[in-house]
Amino acid sequence: MKKKKKKRLTKFDTYARLFFILVLCVLSVFLGKVFWNAMNPAPTEDADLRPAAVKAGYFHSLVKIKDVSADRLERYNAYYRAGYGLSMEEAVEFVNWDVDILCPKGPDERVLELSQDKFFVGKNLSRYLALYDGNSQNVRAVVEKVNACRDKTAYEDIEPTDLSKGIMVLVNKYHYLDSSYIPDDLVNAASQYCQYSSAKLSRPAYEAFVKMATDAKAAGYTIKINSGYRSYSKQRGMYNNYVAGHGKAEADTFSARPGFSEHQTGLAIDLSSPGVGYWSFGDSAAGRWVHANAHKYGFILRYLEDKTDITGYIYECMHFRYVGVDAATFIHENGIAYEDYYEKYVK
Ligand code: DAL
Ligand code: ZN
Repeated sequence: MKKKKKKRLTKFDTYARLFFILVLCVLSVFLGKVFWNAMNPAPTEDADLRPAAVKAGYFHSLVKIKDVSADRLERYNAYYRAGYGLSMEEAVEFVNWDVDILCPKGPDERVLELSQDKFFVGKNLSRYLALYDGNSQNVRAVVEKVNACRDKTAYEDIEPTDLSKGIMVLVNKYHYLDSSYIPDDLVNAASQYCQYSSAKLSRPAYEAFVKMATDAKAAGYTIKINSGYRSYSKQRGMYNNYVAGHGKAEADTFSARPGFSEHQTGLAIDLSSPGVGYWSFGDSAAGRWVHANAHKYGFILRYLEDKTDITGYIYECMHFRYVGVDAATFIHENGIAYEDYYEKYVK
């Protein structure tokens, strides 16, 4: 048999092999780095938290947990190690809700039940607990009530409306507007849309209203603006008249005090239809069309029939509030008062 002659390596072959080994090395380093990064995602929290977390007895993984606050590290650590079988994430979440202070012997059943509610807000926990009787049937009612501030005293426990929320502002018996507040985007409604001589609305609310009125017309219904933007002094005059005619207690059930009306935002409209009484709008054909469709244009029925204890007002079948299509659709589909939505998603 003929012996195979060993091929001598040329200079080129040697360089080619060296190059191949080099490529292999670079590729291994690259793949190694990709693998390492996948196994160790970058911390989502401020990296400065890391030394403090380690000092407090946690491992580095703490800095990857959402909503960790540097000044609560000792408390997270203590609650995590207290023997209640909590994961680190649960300990962080509970301490953020002050459960370690409210329930020093470990999170009780009531906390777990309340936190299951779709609109549960951790920072309200102590107020929920103050109302909660432990009957899980009542969880929704408790969360809803606190989210709407109905555990506070109307017109006394008040704070200024957070105007930075734009079209999502909350104005109610607990959140007020300054007497000098006038929206800077008011527009005059075209006369065809006004039940009386004129009406003004904030621009986005007006544009949405025009779309809705146009589609209502195409469906065979005429809708008009009975009342849109109202200045502080206009609201004061109306409220005082109602008090004179009905007494203060009754007036407070259907009229906002000056500074506490959403009409001052330019985002609220009382709708009407020709030949239909103010309080009958909801029972009219035009009103039924609006009730079924307003959310598609960004409006919600603000003072609901089954939420009078939550909104603090009687059912107002004509009063709509512009909040944008996404929020309005969510609120409509969930059948909630705006207060619940605001507390959970806007505040
Ligand atoms: N009628 C509503 C509550 C208002 O006066 O703003
Ligand atoms: Zn109104």
